[in-house]
Amino acid sequence: MIRFIKQKAVLPVVAACLFLFYSCSSSNDTSDPVIPNPTPTDTTTQTTSAGYDEQYRPLIHYTPAKNWINDPNGMVYVDGVWHLFYQYNPYGADWGNMSWGHATSTDLIHWKEQQVAITKNALGDIFSGSAVVDKNNTAGFGANAIVALYTSNGDHQQQSIAYSTDGCKSFTSYSGNPVISNTDKADFRDPKVFWDETSGQWVMSLARGWTYAVDFYGSKDLKSWTFLSSFNAASYSGCNHGQWECPDLVRFSLNGKYVWVLIVNINPGGPILGSGTMYFVGDWDGKTFTATHQEYPMWMDTGMDNYAGVTWSNAPDGRKVLIGWMNNWSYAGSSPVTPWRSAMTLPREMGLTERNGVKMLTSKVVKEIDGIGGTWKDVTSELGLSQPYQLHIDIPAISKGKIVLSNSHDEEFEMEIIPAANLFISKRTSKSGKTDFSGSFVQPSMKSAIYDDNGILSLDIYVDRSSIELFNQNGLLVQTNTVYPTSIYNKVTLDGISATMKVRPLDNIWK
Ligand code: FRU
Repeated sequence: MIRFIKQKAVLPVVAACLFLFYSCSSSNDTSDPVIPNPTPTDTTTQTTSAGYDEQYRPLIHYTPAKNWINDPNGMVYVDGVWHLFYQYNPYGADWGNMSWGHATSTDLIHWKEQQVAITKNALGDIFSGSAVVDKNNTAGFGANAIVALYTSNGDHQQQSIAYSTDGCKSFTSYSGNPVISNTDKADFRDPKVFWDETSGQWVMSLARGWTYAVDFYGSKDLKSWTFLSSFNAASYSGCNHGQWECPDLVRFSLNGKYVWVLIVNINPGGPILGSGTMYFVGDWDGKTFTATHQEYPMWMDTGMDNYAGVTWSNAPDGRKVLIGWMNNWSYAGSSPVTPWRSAMTLPREMGLTERNGVKMLTSKVVKEIDGIGGTWKDVTSELGLSQPYQLHIDIPAISKGKIVLSNSHDEEFEMEIIPAANLFISKRTSKSGKTDFSGSFVQPSMKSAIYDDNGILSLDIYVDRSSIELFNQNGLLVQTNTVYPTSIYNKVTLDGISATMKVRPLDNIWK
């Protein structure tokens, strides 16, 4: 716990006072209290999307109107609405007072900020977690109640639940909290829950931080939980570093068989520096997860800024939709934006593929992005745009060379392809824009394998005012990076590479 606080930030004194006041005033509650959310009229919480045009303000990514966010939490699809909760500080642009903020969307692209959903209580701050639709009323809160499961971060990290019977408009804290108590484990957090057909019960994955493990628990009713097993990095010593956080056990189908993927976010110890998302591929027998590969760590994204991503619960058509926090704990606290701090990534459709005998996760931006896509036009250099866009580059015969995005301020972001070494390298140098806010922001060597298909490489690059998200045709080359250019990069230069390129504008989601 102490290490956790050091890792993040020291809470401002005012926040500590608020916490004490709140803890004392709510410590006598005995029945299930409706969580007293800050309302839109609070001066401390702005829930409209007015404005949204400050410097660096993302125009195609979710950001709150103001204040700090980190991990996406409790993502759940209910009756045509994609709910996105997230770690939120209702009172400022630094980490602290952790609560669940809330936004909704009917297309995963346009978001509406809602009232803060769950705020701290006597058991502590509201840390990361998940939400499920309890279709069969296993918990007794009502059929189709939405049950949020989160970590109460008080003296110890314990697991608690809150439920909603009005489609996530309000949550009621369960009077029997915590549902998994803890008095000795230092790191024990971020419950991610799904209904497991294999064992006929709810299964929770819990991250064990510096213990480098994920614990699994089972429950018939979401209230009473039994320890099932623990998966650790003993066989994967390369993963034995950094805190293990925000796990997600996801079932995929591949060649007619179920294959399970355990997503584990780690910080520090990511692919380059700081935060990153690794995964293990294997089997789940209803009690134990067994990884069945020897390659490790396997990274979901080899850029710097995709963290704490987990998948939506109850998504239609078996979709596996993931969203990440588009930042990195190495410098998140000093990201040069105001009055909000941090954005979410574009939502991604996750898949599983097999390449040279290795099963790997794939990521693609969800198809709903087409809803904000304008007309494609062929380009050779100048994009002629001053708004976000998707740039598509077809390289029919890969050769050694560079792709450079730039603007009229001589700011640039370079991507180098070195086929002989099977390397794709993104370079976020001090020329990318504003970089002086943190010593670890400049990253001139973000490497990935190229993952071409018989020498052919196609790239889709989604560029917003302060981010670049890059995907290749098979979803294996994935890099998400924040950047802070004075104006959006609007020119592309090819050096040593023959390619055809086209671009389409992506509309401002706040208009
Ligand atoms: C991951 C994380 C979680 C924790 C939350 C606190 O970024 O450290 O483990 O629940 O952030 O804000």
